[in-house]
Parts: sequence; C-alpha cells; structure tokens
Amino acid sequence: MAPVLLTIFACALAAQLLQCSIAPSTAARTPSSAASSLSTYSSQFHQLSADSLFPNGTGVTRGDFPEGFLFGAITSSMKHEGAEYRDNKSENIWDSYARKDGASLDGALPGECANNYDFYKMDHRLLTGLGMNSYRFSIAWSRLFPDGSGEVNEVAIAHYNDVINDIISLGLIPMVTLWTQDHPQILEDRYGGALSDTFISDFANYAETCFKVFGDRVKYWITFDELNDWAGLGYATMQNPPGRCTSNIMGQFNYNYGQCPQGNSGTEPYQVGHHLLLAHAEAVDVYRTKYQPTQNGSIGFALWFRWSEPLTDSAEDIMAAQRATDFLVGWFMDPIFFGDYPKSMRELVGDRLPSFTDEELQKINGSLDFVGINIQTALYTFDTNFYLTQNETCYYLDWQANVTGYRDGIAIGVGDHDYAVPWSLKTTVEYMKDRYSNFPMYITQTGWGIEYDESEDTLEDDQRVEYFETYYTELVEAIREGANVKGVYAWSLLDGFEFNLGLQVRVGIFYVDDDYNRHARKSALWFKEMLFSNSTTSSAATTALL
Ligand SMILES: *[C@@H]1O[C@H](CO)[C@@H](O)[C@H](O)[C@H]1NC(C)=O
Ligand SMILES: *[C@@H]1O[C@H](CO)[C@@H](O)[C@H](O)[C@H]1NC(C)=O
Ligand SMILES: *[C@@H]1O[C@H](CO)[C@@H](O)[C@H](O)[C@H]1NC(C)=O
Ligand SMILES: *[C@@H]1O[C@H](CO)[C@@H](O)[C@H](O)[C@H]1NC(C)=O
Ligand SMILES: *[C@@H]1O[C@H](CO)[C@@H](O)[C@H](O)[C@H]1NC(C)=O
Ligand SMILES: *[C@@H]1O[C@H](CO)[C@@H](O)[C@H](O)[C@H]1NC(C)=O
Ligand SMILES: *[C@@H]1O[C@H](CO)[C@@H](O)[C@H](O)[C@H]1NC(C)=O
Repeated sequence: MAPVLLTIFACALAAQLLQCSIAPSTAARTPSSAASSLSTYSSQFHQLSADSLFPNGTGVTRGDFPEGFLFGAITSSMKHEGAEYRDNKSENIWDSYARKDGASLDGALPGECANNYDFYKMDHRLLTGLGMNSYRFSIAWSRLFPDGSGEVNEVAIAHYNDVINDIISLGLIPMVTLWTQDHPQILEDRYGGALSDTFISDFANYAETCFKVFGDRVKYWITFDELNDWAGLGYATMQNPPGRCTSNIMGQFNYNYGQCPQGNSGTEPYQVGHHLLLAHAEAVDVYRTKYQPTQNGSIGFALWFRWSEPLTDSAEDIMAAQRATDFLVGWFMDPIFFGDYPKSMRELVGDRLPSFTDEELQKINGSLDFVGINIQTALYTFDTNFYLTQNETCYYLDWQANVTGYRDGIAIGVGDHDYAVPWSLKTTVEYMKDRYSNFPMYITQTGWGIEYDESEDTLEDDQRVEYFETYYTELVEAIREGANVKGVYAWSLLDGFEFNLGLQVRVGIFYVDDDYNRHARKSALWFKEMLFSNSTTSSAATTALL
C-alpha cells in the first residue's frame, strides 16, 4: 500500500510548532517531451466503461443530492496549465519560487505539468465523460496582465474565451478563480506584492477585466483561493512564495530550505491578510456595482480548512480549537459577517493586527455571495503556552494551540502524514452553518494525495476511491440535516504541480504521464458510477470504509 503522504499539509503544521522534516527526493524527474493527441485521449476515455467496478453501487449517488447540485473537478492555472512562458505570459510568484533550491522537492517546475493550456478541450471532455456538470478552473493574472497592470494581453483573452466557450458548449457550468498564489512576480519586485496596498487596486483592475470580458458566460467567480493559508505560509514561514519570515524563527521551525532573508512572521501575515481582504472586497464592489445587475452571477472566496477537534473535553482545549479556527477561518469570515477580526485575534495579536477604517468596513461588510470551503483533513488541537518562552512573535505562535494526529495512541484518521477524516467534512460544514447563518456554501476542494511511486500501479487508487466515497457520504448527511451546500469540486481533475511537492504527490483522478496523456484512475470510475446512477444503495461499502 502506497503511503498516503500529503506533506504539504503536514508542513503547514510545522508552522505551528510541530517539527516537520521534509526529505527532499533525489529522484530526478524525467523531462516531459512529446505531447499527446486527441486520439490518445479517446482511447483513455473509452476505458471508462468498466462499470462492473462497483456492482452494488458506490454507496452514494447523484440522486442523494439536491436538484441542481454542482458536481465538478478542479484544475488551476498554477498547477495544471503549464506553458509557463508562452504567449507573453510573465513569471508568477510560484514560477520563480519553484526555481529556488529546495522549494520544489522533486525539482518539478510548474511549466512541465499537465499542459492544460494546450489540452483544455480534452480535459473538458473528461469532465463530461464522468457526468460532471461543472468545472472549477482559474485564470492566470500573469497571462492577462504580464506587467501586472496596464495593457491587457489579447492573446490571453482569446485563449480564455476559447476555453470558456468550449466549456459552455458542453453544457458545463464554469466556476472561475482569479488567483491561486499566482500573481505576476513583477508586482513583488515593483512594490512588495500584497504587502503593499497598491496590490488592492491592481487586483481589482485585473478582476474587472475578467468580469467585463468573460462575465457574460461565467456566473461563479472566486476572487482568491486559500488566501488564509497563503498569508501564513508565505509570510510566517518560507514554505510558499514570496518566502518571507523573521530570520531567526528558523531555529524553531525545522525547514530545510534555508533562512528567511527578510520579513516579519509576527506582523506581515496580518498585513497581507488585511490587503487580501480589501482586494477581495474591492473586486466584489466593482462586480456588484457594474456587472452583477446585468450578468447575474455570484462571487465569493475559497478558504483552506483543517478541522480542529479539541484533543480533550477540557475548557482549555475547546478554547484552543476555537482559537485555531478563528485564526484560520474567522480571520477572513468575521470581518465580512461581524465587522471585525475575531475577538481572540484582537486579544492575542494586539496592535500587530491592523484596524479597519469605516470606509473599508463598509466595503467588506457582506462582500460574499457564497463561501468556498477547501477541506481535506482534521487534527486534534490542544492548548499550549509554548509561545510564552519565545522571543519572537509569529502568526502561528499567536494561536497558542498545538496539534497532534493522535488521541490516546489512536490516529484521528487513515494516513501517514495527512489524515483522511470523513466526519470532519460534516463537522466543518455544520460549524460554518451555525456560525454564519447557513450562508450558501460550496465545497470548492476536497481530494486525496498519494505519493507517486513508479513501481506501483498509479491507476489503482483504492484509497482515493474510499476517500471520495466516505467524504461525499458525509456531505449528503450534512445536506440532509439542512446545510446550505450547493456543489462539490474534486481536487483534482489531473495530476499537477502540487506546490512544494512538485509531482512527488499525485492528486488527480486522472493520472498524467510524462507525455501528458491522461489515464483514468479508479477514482474517476467511481465518479462516473456515482454520477450516472440515481438509486441509493446502502451498500456495505459505505460502512466498511477506510
Ligand atoms: C454485492 O452484493 C452481493 C449481494 O449482496 C454480494 O454478494 C457481493 O459481495 C457484493 N459485491 C461487492 C463488491 O460488494
Ligand atoms: C508579446 O509582446 C511583444 C512586445 O510587447 C509583442 O511584440 C508580441 O507581439 C507579443 N506576442 C504575443 C504572442 O502576443
Ligand atoms: C438571476 O438568477 C436568479 C437565480 O438563478 C434567477 O432566478 C433570475 O431570474 C436571474 N435574473 C436574470 C435577470 O437573469
Ligand atoms: C453591514 O450592513 C448591514 C446592512 O446592509 C447592516 O445592517 C450592518 O450593520 C452592517 N454591519 C457593519 C459591521 O457595518
Ligand atoms: C531569548 O533571548 C534571550 C536573551 O537574548 C536568550 O538568552 C534566550 O535564549 C532566547 N530564547 C529563545 C527561545 O530564543
Ligand atoms: C506540539 O505537539 C507535538 C505532538 O503533536 C509535540 O511533539 C511537540 O513537541 C509540541 N510542540 C511544542 C512546542 O509544544
Ligand atoms: C438518472 O436520472 C436521469 C434523470 O432523471 C435519467 O435521465 C437517467 O436515465 C437515470 N439513470 C439511471 C441509471 O437510472
């Protein structure tokens, strides 16, 4: 059994006191060479007729979900488009960061992965072949505005028009994300990227261009994807670009790719978070005033979640788990719903946490039509005062919470590093439902990474099948109990550039080989079976589980 290894999330934990040593893979990646053709794709596609895989049903079926529910899978410009420097696209922050020693663990580069830029038509047909009715993808800011702002790149406009038209022609509903940690590097060089408030107007300008040009066909917009995660990983540790943090914080955080050259882990995450929230609100304001009345779409952002389950039922641990959720989720949700950052953040961060002007608050207030939830996993969370012994401030230390995968020696879920915890999807949705008045939600990302091992049959991803079956079953339960969830997107349609993990961990329901051929994994077949069948089978499969 291939070890399930989602190191990237384990490393997110490192940032919170856990030690995390990532062993860099020495295996060189075979450079991708020739591209595949549509005929290759066709042969892969036809393999999908093996419906005997699930003779007794998948345990959950399309018919268990409400009418009009959106079922989709995800690609992102950053992880799957490839074509890094083609057609005047400029370098984005991951393109440049991936070239730093150790930042991409297996040396993979974004431009080598998946090549959805050329094969988008093929990919759209993979989705319809599975019976999906929606597709979540992203637009690359660095293609539309290679200089960050200023003149728009018409080649990029033409490309995304072709992409969107093809999606629509197949009856798929596009959900489009504008940012996935991929703004042009030139904005970092010019004014420090999201550390500067100039970022707000540049983002709003880019977003408006998208609304203006594509908004007649795109009805679901996501401004930022996992902005909460990035503000920590990019500015409190150096896991993600731009890789800024307090230089001597490295002694406490066991990273293997060097000291932070500059930054401040105790202030910059909050400053960047503030600007991201304002940039989001500005884009929403432009959309609502100028485009929504005629285009009739909706707009939101997608947050990264990890359910924080109190380790014990002590008041201390319950409060620590709440703080962890405040610092991760409330950070961006509460200003929009309640007019300020969570109280715990105000108390613990003090004057390192920015304040809102009345004008900003007005813009932020209610600036979501829906919220996107990216949820994979859960951890036990407990109270700690470790921070008191430290001389430096750091976003992750401010939580005063530590995490563990074990309670009384028993793991919270299956997996070596990241845990599959099906019930955490339901508890997360219920938490959001209760705290934010059952606001419209989409599960904008859920999926399962498996370490890539050339010697094993990567198509036999039984763990991923179990993951989706159990998670989607929990989602059905949550909806039956009244949660206002309107769609779910599988991460991901294709193997791609998984940030620090490069291609070492594969997440696609379609395997992408070095020649960019797509091969259906068992999990793709699971989706096909689930989406084309209507009857509910309470098969043993749902209870045998993981
Ligand atoms: C399907 O159901 C039949 C009859 O209940 C059972 O014998 C068989 O083992 C099941 N197959 C699977 C794959 O669960
Ligand atoms: C790229 O930009 C250059 C200079 O701005 C321009 O001359 C060229 O036509 C552009 N190429 C494409 C493919 O748009
Ligand atoms: C806008 O969308 C809503 C909900 O989908 C629909 O009921 C309404 O008719 C639409 N209005 C226009 C002008 O298209
Ligand atoms: C947000 O707007 C609503 C009405 O649109 C208003 O009732 C509420 O007081 C506002 N909240 C804040 C914090 O300004
Ligand atoms: C904090 O600073 C003091 C004085 O400079 C030093 O002795 C101590 O080792 C530092 N503690 C940590 C955890 O770095
Ligand atoms: C955090 O918890 C882990 C157990 O999950 C433990 O190994 C580690 O020492 C703790 N860190 C601190 C700083 O307390
Ligand atoms: C499922 O329902 C749809 C629409 O109600 C119908 O077209 C389709 O034939 C059904 N599929 C099965 C396998 O019953």
